[in-house]
Amino acid sequence: MRKIDCFSIEEQEIHPLVEFSFLSRTVKEHSYKIMESLGLFDISNTTINDQCFGIKEEKKRCFLVIDHNVYSIYGYSITNYFKFYNIDFGIKVLTVSEKNKTIENVLELAKEIDEFNLSRRNEPIIAIGGGVLTDICSLTANLYRRSTECIKIPTTLMGQIDAAIGVKTGINFNGNKNRLGTYYSSGKVLIDRTFLQSLDDRSFNNGLAEILKMALVKEPFLFELLEKHKFVICKDRMLGKQDYSTIIQLSIKSMLEELAPNLWEDSLERVVDFGHTFSPVLEMKAVEDLYHGEAVSIDMAYSVLLAYEKKLISKEDLDRALNLFEALSLPTDHEFCTPELFTTALNDACMHRAGKQNFPLPITIGKSIFSNDITSDEIARVVDKMKSLSVESVCN
Ligand SMILES: NC(=O)c1ccc[n+]([C@@H]2O[C@H](COP(=O)([O-])OP(=O)(O)OC[C@H]3O[C@@H](n4cnc5c(N)ncnc54)[C@H](O)[C@@H]3O)[C@@H](O)[C@H]2O)c1
Repeated sequence: MRKIDCFSIEEQEIHPLVEFSFLSRTVKEHSYKIMESLGLFDISNTTINDQCFGIKEEKKRCFLVIDHNVYSIYGYSITNYFKFYNIDFGIKVLTVSEKNKTIENVLELAKEIDEFNLSRRNEPIIAIGGGVLTDICSLTANLYRRSTECIKIPTTLMGQIDAAIGVKTGINFNGNKNRLGTYYSSGKVLIDRTFLQSLDDRSFNNGLAEILKMALVKEPFLFELLEKHKFVICKDRMLGKQDYSTIIQLSIKSMLEELAPNLWEDSLERVVDFGHTFSPVLEMKAVEDLYHGEAVSIDMAYSVLLAYEKKLISKEDLDRALNLFEALSLPTDHEFCTPELFTTALNDACMHRAGKQNFPLPITIGKSIFSNDITSDEIARVVDKMKSLSVESVCN
């Protein structure tokens, strides 16, 4: 066997019917940087120029992909920034939504990048927008010339604490959520909380759902911080208090602690799948009606109730959790939530998780286990119970 660092070619034992057999093996380190800087597109802020282009002598070039809503609000300051720093850019403004998170958008984007003649080695694609845009862009970057650097600048709360943080790319396909996608670690993620000021309340709260996810199954202190600021966090748009910076940092850190050791999802026991068992099917069925975080929120609320039904969590923890959903204006139910839909979704999740349910359930605030014995009867009971709770809260 010849061995050079983390690359090896092994001659394999020969099977009588096989002429020869090699095993080629390479281990590649993956690292990417996530950093926050407020006011990224202020001319005086050199972060983008420094991080994306460094002290490059040759002509600086990149391809900007910008969410249409972001472009309508920030288009002038974004393009002005690149002009000021003498960076030659191509630009594509994408009208994105869950419904057009499609292969057609990926191909259209790839075509424009190709026509701009982007060099894959030192000219990045810079994706500026919410989770839909960064998912589409990172997939395109991964496909374009077999991998082109993609710098993500997430502009929604969902993007800043989740969608842009991991290595998953994806588009919806054949009626299924994120059915086509890859694992791709992009260049860098640059976070600027000031973008959150222009989100509407519903889009902001949508991102809070994924923060609540980490709080419920992994980070009790994050839960306490959300409880502390639950009535003002949306109005403040996560700005102006040190605790908000801590919330963002803790959300990203706890997410990375789960993702980094399992980047390619070799282990299918994933705490971050909390809220993501029923929600993919629900989200696609209610695509006109529910945002991603809202579908996750409903899944989480049902999961907490399921944990209570299974006597895993106390009544006190159940009440604390449900109160926080309400205070953060996060939905806990939808007319499409039925035992049949949830059973279908659980079966689909099982296929995705190599035949096991691996259903993360909280056992107290900030701690969880994986359940593999959820029955259709339990699901039906929990759906009944949630419907009666919803009626109670409407009547009260
Ligand atoms: N890759 C991953 O690991 C991962 C993780 C979580 C979520 N996601 C994906 O993220 C998507 C949801 O992302 P999202 O919640 O950001 O939705 P989104 O990208 O659809 O953005 C929500 C809305 O906000 C607008 N917008 C974006 N930034 C704005 C700003 N600063 N001001 C005003 N409007 C703005 C957008 O135009 C859009 O209308 C889903 O498709 C989900 O599957 C991916």
